[in-house]
Amino acid sequence: MNVLILGSGGREHALAWKLSQSKKIDQLYIAPGNGGTQHCGTNIDIAPDDFEAIKKITLEQQIGLVIVGPEAPLVKGITDFFTAEEKLKSIPVVGPTKAGAKLEGSKDFAKAFMQEFKIPTAQYQSFTKDTLKEGKTFLETLKAPYVLKADGLAAGKGVLILEDIDEAKIELENMLTGKFGDASATVVIEEFLKGIELSCFCYTNGKDYVMLPEAKDYKRIGEGDTGLNTGGMGSISPVPFANKAFLQKVEERIVEPTIHGIQQRGIDYHGFIFFGLMNVNGDPYVIEYNVRLGDPETESIMPRIKTDLMDMFGAGIEDNLKDFTLELKPDFATAVMLVSGGYPEAYEKGKTITGLNAVKDSIVLHAGTKINNNETVTSGGRVMAITSLDQTMEAALKTSMNNAEKINFDKKYYRKDLGFDLK
Ligand code: AMP
Ligand code: GLY
Repeated sequence: MNVLILGSGGREHALAWKLSQSKKIDQLYIAPGNGGTQHCGTNIDIAPDDFEAIKKITLEQQIGLVIVGPEAPLVKGITDFFTAEEKLKSIPVVGPTKAGAKLEGSKDFAKAFMQEFKIPTAQYQSFTKDTLKEGKTFLETLKAPYVLKADGLAAGKGVLILEDIDEAKIELENMLTGKFGDASATVVIEEFLKGIELSCFCYTNGKDYVMLPEAKDYKRIGEGDTGLNTGGMGSISPVPFANKAFLQKVEERIVEPTIHGIQQRGIDYHGFIFFGLMNVNGDPYVIEYNVRLGDPETESIMPRIKTDLMDMFGAGIEDNLKDFTLELKPDFATAVMLVSGGYPEAYEKGKTITGLNAVKDSIVLHAGTKINNNETVTSGGRVMAITSLDQTMEAALKTSMNNAEKINFDKKYYRKDLGFDLK
C-alpha cells in the first residue's frame, strides 16, 4: 500500500521513520515533509491544508491511507473532504472529522464535553463580550492564579495564567476584544490545577482504542522550566510517576468516558487522541484534548513501539482493535530538541548543519530543516530532536546530550536539564 503523511515537523519525521520500517508499505510520501523525512520516503511540496492538491496526489500516487500529523487540516475538515469526494471516500484517513476536531479546536466545546461525560477537569465557565461583567465577577469567586483560555486555536499562545486579579480582569477584557482575534471571542476561565503534567495518547476507531506510550514534554525555553513557552524542547517516555495504578485511572476515568462521549455525540472519529493531563496528587485531570499526536512527544514515543504501526491502523480500520495491544520496548526514550538561537522569539534561518554523520547511537528526527544545494540547513525554530534509547533515563539522556554536542549550527541551543523533575 502507498501511504501519505501530512505535515512537516519532528512528529511527522518520527512517524515517517517508524512507517519506513513497515513491510506493508510500498511507497511512503510526506507532504510537505522536511530535510529528514526525505530519507524515509518521498517529500511532496504541497501544504497540508491544500485539499485539492492533496486530492490530486492521492489519486495520482494511488494512496491507500492518509495520516494527518497537525491539527490545522483536521479542524479545517480534511477528513470530511475525503468522505464527501466520490473518488476519495474509500481511502481511510487517520484523523477525526471536523466534529471530532472540535475537541481541540474549541476549548469551550471540550469543557462542555468533559462536563457532560463526567471526565475530571478543572471547574470552568465561558464568557463572551456580552458577558464580560459576569466574567469579572466569576474571577472574584476564584483563587489565584487565574487561568484564561482563548476558545479557539491561537498557535499555542491562547492560555494566560495570571497571579493578580486586576490583571486577570484586564486580560479577560483584552481577550474578548480581540487579543487573539476570533480565537478569543469566547474565553474559558478555569480553576488552576496544581500538579505535574504529562501527555497520554490513544489511537481509536471511535469504538475501541489502543493506548500508546505516555510521555513528558518540556515546554519552556529555559532550564528548570523557566522563560517563554515553546513548541516543546524535548520529551521523555515512559514517565516514571505514571505507574500502572495511575495509568489505569487515566483509562477508566478519562479515555473510556471520552470514547463513550464521542459515540454518544455521534462523532465519526478515527485517529489519535492526545490527553494533556495534570497529575494532581495521584489523580489525573484533563488540561486539554488534542486530536493528533504530540510534538515532541512522538519523537520519544515512536522509537519505543515494536509493533508495525500499519498493523494498528489495519486493526482500527477493520474493526479488530478491541484486543489489539502494542508491543513496546522497555527502554526509556529521550528526545532532546536543538533549536535556533533566539527561538521562540525572532531567530535566523538557513544555517548550515554539520556533524549529522557523526551520530551513530541516536535517532535524529528533523523538524525545521530543509535541503539546500545538497546541504541540510535550518528552516525553523525547532530544528531537530536527538532521540536515544537506553535502560535508564539517565543513560538515554547522556547519549542524546553527547550527540547534541556533535551536531552544530550557528547559535544552536538546547536544554541540558531534561528529566530534572522526574528523578
Ligand atoms: P493548554 O493550551 O490548555 O494546554 O494550556 C497551556 C498550558 O497552560 C498547559 O500546558 C498548562 O501548563 C497550563 N494550564 C492550562 N490549564 C491549566 C489549569 N487549569 N491549571 C494549571 N495549569 C494550566
Ligand atoms: N507537545 C504539545 C503539543 O504537541 O501540543
